[in-house]
Amino acid sequence: MKRTSAVLAWVDQRFPLSATWKTHLSEYYAPKNFNFWYYFGSLALFVLVLQIVTGIFLTIHYKPDANLAFASVEYIMRDVSGGWLIRYLHSTGASMFFIVVYLHMFRGLMYGSYRKPRELVWLFGMGIYLCLMGEAFFGYLLPWGQMSYWGAQVIVNLFGAIPFVGPDLALWIRGDYVVSDATLNRFFAFHVIAMPLVLLGLVAVHLVALHEVGSNNPDGIEIKKHKDPKTGIPLDGIPFHPYYTVKDIVGVVVFLAVFSVIVFFAPEVGGYFLEHNNFIPADSLKTPPHIAPVWYFTPFYAMLRAVTYPLFGIDAKFWGVVIMGLAVLIFCALPWLDRGKVKSVRYRGPVFKAALALFVVSFLWLGYLGTEAPTPLTTTLSQILTAVYFAFFLLMPWYTKIDKTKPEPERVTG
Ligand code: HEM
Repeated sequence: MKRTSAVLAWVDQRFPLSATWKTHLSEYYAPKNFNFWYYFGSLALFVLVLQIVTGIFLTIHYKPDANLAFASVEYIMRDVSGGWLIRYLHSTGASMFFIVVYLHMFRGLMYGSYRKPRELVWLFGMGIYLCLMGEAFFGYLLPWGQMSYWGAQVIVNLFGAIPFVGPDLALWIRGDYVVSDATLNRFFAFHVIAMPLVLLGLVAVHLVALHEVGSNNPDGIEIKKHKDPKTGIPLDGIPFHPYYTVKDIVGVVVFLAVFSVIVFFAPEVGGYFLEHNNFIPADSLKTPPHIAPVWYFTPFYAMLRAVTYPLFGIDAKFWGVVIMGLAVLIFCALPWLDRGKVKSVRYRGPVFKAALALFVVSFLWLGYLGTEAPTPLTTTLSQILTAVYFAFFLLMPWYTKIDKTKPEPERVTG
């Protein structure tokens, strides 16, 4: 024991190890009323590590070459010992990452975690979300199946719809006139090194920003307002370690149980996590009849397809891209759109609650419509739902102001 303390003292004189442990864990005071919704931050961290570790093992056996990629994935699935498990952990992990992150963001919406003083926590989170989308998009090309190929073709072609610079931009992204070996090589570089590096950096600043201002909680009130006059510790705060480290382990165990059921019994989830067409090698001469991205992109894909009218002489496709981009970026404006007197949904009025419910319904419904082949009916529905989606944000300054909120408690409840 003495020797351990001596080693620790030696390290501490040269590197702030104990100080960092204290600031971020044993003396980071988190509100005592965290509930179910507060599991998803640590779960996102867990899935991030899982994706990096399984990704490294996949990279050991994968070949980023248009002639070899598909076969190398089959080789991983059939011949590499445990390869099938590594691949399914990674492919299922991608979908689980989005489920966890969507629930994590929804918690932010419910409890107003994006509002002052956590605007930067939210904006760094949005940076993470954008990177995650890029990471998933680049990764999906790698198995070089039909959906990888045509999905990438469709999305890169969207950039071609931008007036003036579009065609050159699409060419620059692909590195060729069509999606080809050159595209596969660069997407591999982005997926395996560029995006993960940025993602890790953003997660680090996300947590530093959070620990600077302190966590929000289901009551949406600031625990720093009531501190013990002697110790300066928030009266409603408890040390993150050991209380929440232990609680978060429970979350990881439950997550692993659900995750295992999917990985071992239904890794494709009926074509939603791994699309059927992606078990067919990429063929540049055979366009699949129905091209749709993986489920986590489909709400935005449905909004892209909902735009069917040209405007100012510019193609509808361009405006679709604009709407799709705005649908993602508008989340960044939330801290400045919300004028409510209270943060948490617990004390909000009926208008905010209805708006949030409608927003969730529109997002899920659009997600479903995005997976289906378009018909006149689904297009009209997508247009209505896109309007509902944007109304949630654009009308927010108004309805959060007029809503009849309940008084917030002084101290956190239960
Ligand atoms: C790789 C992805 C992410 C990781 C690893 C991550 C990690 C975390 C962790 C560990 C926490 C503290 C625990 C908790 O409050 O649940 C947290 C809090 C938070 N995160 Fe994330 N996060 C990620 C993505 C995002 C995204 C995409 C957003 C939103 C756009 C976001 C917004 C927030 C906010 C607002 C908080 C503070 C919540 C509160 O105090 O109520 N995060 N994050």
